[in-house]
This record gives sequence, structure tokens and C-alpha cells, in this order.
Amino acid sequence: MDFQVKPLASALGAEVIGLDMSKPVDDETQARLRQAWLQHLVLLFRGQKLSPQNLIAFSRRFATPHTHENYEAELRHPEHPEILLVKAREVAGRNTRFGEQWHSDMSFTTRPALASVLYARRMPPVGGDTCWANMYLAYETLSPPLRRFLDGLEVVHDLNHGTTHQSRPLDLMAASRKRNPAVRQPAVRVHPETGRKALFVSEWACPQFVGMTREESQPILEMLFRHSTQPQFQFRQMWRPDDLLIWDNRCTVHLALGDYTDFSQRELLRTSLIGEPSGQVLTRAEYAGAYDE
Ligand code: SIN
Repeated sequence: MDFQVKPLASALGAEVIGLDMSKPVDDETQARLRQAWLQHLVLLFRGQKLSPQNLIAFSRRFATPHTHENYEAELRHPEHPEILLVKAREVAGRNTRFGEQWHSDMSFTTRPALASVLYARRMPPVGGDTCWANMYLAYETLSPPLRRFLDGLEVVHDLNHGTTHQSRPLDLMAASRKRNPAVRQPAVRVHPETGRKALFVSEWACPQFVGMTREESQPILEMLFRHSTQPQFQFRQMWRPDDLLIWDNRCTVHLALGDYTDFSQRELLRTSLIGEPSGQVLTRAEYAGAYDE
């Protein structure tokens, strides 16, 4: 099947033109799509008319979709647990959105997402863009001594560290902590398909390095968050309804912008594709203080 791949930014992101993803794709086309995805990290397909079943079938061509048990039931599609409903909702009187800080999906589990897929259903007339940053470039542009230092480090990934979670009532926090204990992850991961190293830290999930105090960790982490998300490492997606987009979580972080006022106007469907095992659950002793209830 014939298609074109048009880069959308220097660092990452490309549009695939000429394919209807509601239809089956032959193996040779799928292999070429995967190569394009590994090269560009984020692939966008515009104007796709997809049912929930089509979205799941598209996702399955890349990897097995997660059924999202670690998220609250109301976030899951009522008939298809493989699909998360990405829209703002009210928690304890406050509008919360998905992904309002930089992160890599499910990095706080021992099976971080290999990829995620978003399908835009409704969008505000302006605003509500999503940005991605290239974590290969983030790693490769650090100085050699800092790369060596990070190569040997592990970092805490904790779902409950992010601002969305921090502003929740304590009982919801405690329940979420039970479902999602913090994990230790390598600060630098080797991508299993490309063999390239990528930085694996994010503002949303990472409070500290393992074996270092928060005071020691935070200046280094804050520098890495700034470094990794600088504008020249980014691609910004200005959504239109029926846009379908897949990204590689093993070498990117992303951020949803909240610059729109009518939260009911933005709705996307997301699948999260199960990745390779990585990391280990942290014990209370290793992550002192965080388990206080
Ligand atoms: C997400 O972080 O998975 C959602 C991103 C978005 O809403 O744009």
C-alpha cells in the first residue's frame, strides 16, 4: 500500500498521508509504518473515521493494549477497557485533566507503556494542544561526565507525585497509592528496538534518585526536566477531530496544554500499549516518607 511520510518538526513527529486506518493493513505496509514510527517517534494520521473497535485493532498492530486496571473505573470506556476516556473531570471540586505535567505513560509501573495512541473526538476551537519531547536527543546532548553519572543511576517513578494527584483528598491519595506503589526505574533506558539510549525521567513522576536524598536529587532533576523539554526537542500537535496519533513512550515525554476554558469541549480516546518489563516496586524503607497515610 502506498503512503507518504512528511516530517512535522526537526526533533520528532511526522504525518502519514494516504492510509485509511479503519481498514486492514498488509504486513509489508505495517513493517514500513513501524520503521517510520521508530525513526520519527510520533506518527499522525489525519481525517480517520474510527469506531472503538477500529482504534483497538490499529493499536494491536503495534503491541497489546493495556486494560487499565490501575486507573479509576470511570476513566475507562464502559464497553472497552482497552480505551481510556481522556477528558477533564471534577475531582473534589477541582477540574483535573490528563497529563498536565511532562510524563511518559505508565512509567510508574513495572511495565511502562511501549506506546500510546490518541484519537481526537472533540476539540476546543483553539488550545488543548499536546507537546512531545525527544528523550534520545535529551540524553545525547548532555556532557559525557553527566551521561556517565546518569547511566548508573535509578530514579523513583511515582504516580502520586504529580500535581493532579497531590491536590486530591487524602482518602483518594491513599487508595491510589495502594493501587500504584512507587517503582525504581533506570534513569537512562536502552531502547529495545533501536539500541539508542534515552533519558527516562519526568517532571510528573520523578521526585528523586534512588539512594540520594530529595535535596541532592532535586537540582539535578530540575535541570534535566528543563534540558529535556527545551523547544528545539519538541513537536506540538494542534488537534483536529478525527486525528489519530501514536507515539513511542520509550524515548519521548509528553504534556497536555490546559489553555482552554470550556473543559467539556475536549475529548480523546487513548489506548496504552504494554511495554517490556522495567524497574521494580520500591519498599517503604527505600522510599521513606512517601507512604505516610
Ligand atoms: C495523555 O497524557 O495521555 C493525554 C494527553 C492529552 O490529553 O493530550
